[in-house]
Amino acid sequence: MSLHQEIRRRVEAAVVAALGPEHAQGESLLQPSRDPRFGDFQCNAALPAAKALGSKPRDLALKIVEKLDLAGLCAAPEIAGPGFVNLRIEDRALASALMATHGDPRCGVAPRSAPQRVVVDYSSPNLAKDLHVGTFRTTVIGDSIARTLEFLGHTVLRQNHYGDWGTNFGTLVAVLKREFGPDLAALERLDLPQIEALYTQGSSLRKDDPAFARDAAEEALKLQQGEPSSRAAWRRLMDVTLANCAEIYQRLDVTMKPEHDRPESSYNADLSVVLDDLQRLGLLTTSEGAKVVFVDGFVNREGEPLPAIVQKADGGYNYTTTDLAAMRHRVRNLRADRIVIVTDRGQSLHFEMMAAVARKAGWLPESTVFTHVGYGVIQREIEEDGKKKKVRFKTRAGGTVKIRELLAEGVERCEKIALEKNAELAPSERTEIALRLTVAGLKYTDLKQRPDTDYVFDWDQMLAVQGDTGVYLLYAYVRIRSVFEKAGADAASKVLLGELRFTHPAERELALHLAKCEDVFSEYERELAATPLCRYAYDLATLFNRFYHDCPILKAEEEGVRAARLELSYLAAERLRLVLGLLGIRTVERM
Ligand code: ARG
Repeated sequence: MSLHQEIRRRVEAAVVAALGPEHAQGESLLQPSRDPRFGDFQCNAALPAAKALGSKPRDLALKIVEKLDLAGLCAAPEIAGPGFVNLRIEDRALASALMATHGDPRCGVAPRSAPQRVVVDYSSPNLAKDLHVGTFRTTVIGDSIARTLEFLGHTVLRQNHYGDWGTNFGTLVAVLKREFGPDLAALERLDLPQIEALYTQGSSLRKDDPAFARDAAEEALKLQQGEPSSRAAWRRLMDVTLANCAEIYQRLDVTMKPEHDRPESSYNADLSVVLDDLQRLGLLTTSEGAKVVFVDGFVNREGEPLPAIVQKADGGYNYTTTDLAAMRHRVRNLRADRIVIVTDRGQSLHFEMMAAVARKAGWLPESTVFTHVGYGVIQREIEEDGKKKKVRFKTRAGGTVKIRELLAEGVERCEKIALEKNAELAPSERTEIALRLTVAGLKYTDLKQRPDTDYVFDWDQMLAVQGDTGVYLLYAYVRIRSVFEKAGADAASKVLLGELRFTHPAERELALHLAKCEDVFSEYERELAATPLCRYAYDLATLFNRFYHDCPILKAEEEGVRAARLELSYLAAERLRLVLGLLGIRTVERM
């Protein structure tokens, strides 16, 4: 248990004993102090309780203090104002709590005592295309969720539910057959740009040419039935685009690997089973030729019941059918306690309805938590008729922005930044660092706000060396490492570099923040948003920089002070690296 949690536990016990359990809840129980002069924490429970108990808040505060046992943790509590109880952690307690985590790669964060099996379905791009910004957010957000839950001790089952099935793929196979005839060998030379061109060609043919549209529908069916020539052509498309995904994942430094592939096509055989089961359960209705399920609470704009379509009038299955099959699989075979799916928030209704059908059908038991993390849009600011406007992030020509191009542009920009900072880096190292800075800039910008908000894409802001950016954080880390280098200290030392002591407020403030690391995670688990992790890392970097500015480390007069400051720096670096790692951001040792 962290220092703060221990304090919280004891404050809670005191308030329960003094005022009763109903008054030991909510924000007033324990809060960080606004002003460090009044201590580190405040317990304000006496104020809201006063009315209900018909007493003066100050009297209640006195009662709380009487019951409060914080020996060895805090100095004697002080009552202030109308009835605040101010608490100040003892320096010795703070120092030893931190020093106890030296050399612990978890920085003192204990794994959860009741770990869960959590499916995280993320990235899941539609294939036969290059990865574009639309996939960027799910990939980055989902990867951070997977990493963090895993760190907390949960068993994370990553699922790449990529789109490789249905009408679009029938269309592609039909174009391939039309262009290349029966010559499957020609497909061997097919590359991604060609596939993308064929995709565009296919989509317009399907609109304009009824004969082609029939071929395309037939190919989709043949794929479902496993017809060899159709499957072979489709396989080739998949191989090319999957190899491309793997390359981008690697450059983006995400943990999604081929063993996590569980594409739509893999549920092909289960789709008819889903329908049979729904039929057997009496949940299936026919509406305008389609097979649908009605679930309570979903209505369209006219207030009429909204059906979940599970089989189209032409007999084809759809996105919902596949998701129901996936739900069944995840609960039955993967034994998930929790299922998290990350997509754009435009799909919220789909997931709400799908989950409601799954609950009704018994595929998603009450004991399994389902969370759809719906994220907002990446935008670009443009000027139109002299007015600034936010629009969806597209290329100048109006096309989708590819992740590959984003990375290339970022690297080019960051190489310049790196060159300015350090002209002596070898070109290969510079490129590697530039990629890390780019990835840090892109991911941090995305993760620092709540997923459901939109944001404007802006390179200059994202890669700024000062401010709340990934680049700023990496610089702070490098700064700490350079202190070690200059000190000739072993940054991987398993033994303490020095006994912590606090001789300057900036040291203590930093230490207090470092001791709070554990607390970020309870907020995280509730919301599954990386925002608190980002805030923690940013505050850490800022507090470190202030400490670095105010307190000489290597030039400290006294040997003990120098050693203590080195130790504090070490503890800061470890936490910064840990948290950045959970965001999917890899630190660099120098720049
Ligand atoms: N392929 C879908 C898309 O690009 C996302 C799939 C998400 N996962 C799921 N189980 N539906 O929008």
